[in-house]
Amino acid sequence: MVETYQPMVGGALSRDSMTLSQHVLKQLQSFGPDAQDLSALMNRIAFAGKLVSKRLTRAGLVEDALGFTGNQNVQGESVKKMDVYANDVFLSVLQQSGLVCRLVSEEMENIYYMPENCPINRYTLLYDPIDGSSNVDINLNVGSIFAIRRQKGDDEDQTGNDLLTNGHEQIAAGYILYGPSTVLVFSIGRGVHSYTLDPSLGEFILSSENIQIPTHGSNYSVNEGNFWQWEEPYRDYIRYMHRHEGYSGRYSGALVGDFHRILMQGGVFLYPGTLKNPEGKLRLLYESAPLAFLAEQAGGKATTGEQPVLDFVPSALHTRTPLIIGSQEDVALVESFIQERQLERPPAISKVS
Ligand code: AHG
Ligand code: MN
Ligand code: MN
Repeated sequence: MVETYQPMVGGALSRDSMTLSQHVLKQLQSFGPDAQDLSALMNRIAFAGKLVSKRLTRAGLVEDALGFTGNQNVQGESVKKMDVYANDVFLSVLQQSGLVCRLVSEEMENIYYMPENCPINRYTLLYDPIDGSSNVDINLNVGSIFAIRRQKGDDEDQTGNDLLTNGHEQIAAGYILYGPSTVLVFSIGRGVHSYTLDPSLGEFILSSENIQIPTHGSNYSVNEGNFWQWEEPYRDYIRYMHRHEGYSGRYSGALVGDFHRILMQGGVFLYPGTLKNPEGKLRLLYESAPLAFLAEQAGGKATTGEQPVLDFVPSALHTRTPLIIGSQEDVALVESFIQERQLERPPAISKVS
């Protein structure tokens, strides 16, 4: 009789060696062409993350990593050298990949086509190459945000109109957080999982499976310097935070970092409209919608204040939306101030009468 070999360290070893691409296939429970494509695409995105991470860790030592380029992007924001580098990294790793036909980036006014890939595969990647780029020069956390959509139609006239649809059209979304360690968090609609880059292996290894946002957390994350520019319900909400026990303000200046804290520990991030920018600052297709996809997959909530972020249909590639995202209860509390200023508040312990 032939004996089946029994590995001694099966459980622990298979957990410690579960790579990102392997885990994608495991989630899809398939080795078919679609599953292989998505796994390969995630592998390319992860490779982009490794290249960006490598440059960031040495940014103070190499030429042309810190500071501004002197140009402005389509949003009218000053472009950093790392914005350009990271933008080009994503283009470079996807060229000749047979995976992505179109790319939409914060740093490119128009859709970037990769004609060599179009006949083979019709995915579109939407991305913010460096989120929180004001943090780059001071060695604080930044991130990359991405979403994957399947192309609808052949887009022969290159209008990209099929991209001006709601966030439910995303088939996957995630981010890479460049912090003390580099962590990739993403979802293909089957829960939210995180993978930590092991620099000695050069691989993203599964570190948390099926992440759930706590239903409530103590952190609220907002740029309070904009208080004077907000509409009254947001001011009411912040006054409420200031006058009640049990809340901590946390704001890093990088959405990815602030959202990651809330994903893991609960709370709420908000970027409301301001006098200068009534639609807020964050762009729907490659900032708000991907994070809303993750929040909902993790049991949380994301709204513009008027409708769920995932229902919002943009009018242009770089359309902005207000964003309120995080734990169910904390997002609902913000909404209660928006819906009815005079609403009876839940009882809480007052520090200031
Ligand atoms: P980006 O660096 O991609 O332009 O995004 C910056 C965003 C976001 O990361 C952050 O939450 C927000 O801008 C910070 O803006 P303020 O400085 O206005 O608070
Ligand atoms: Mn950003
Ligand atoms: Mn950016």
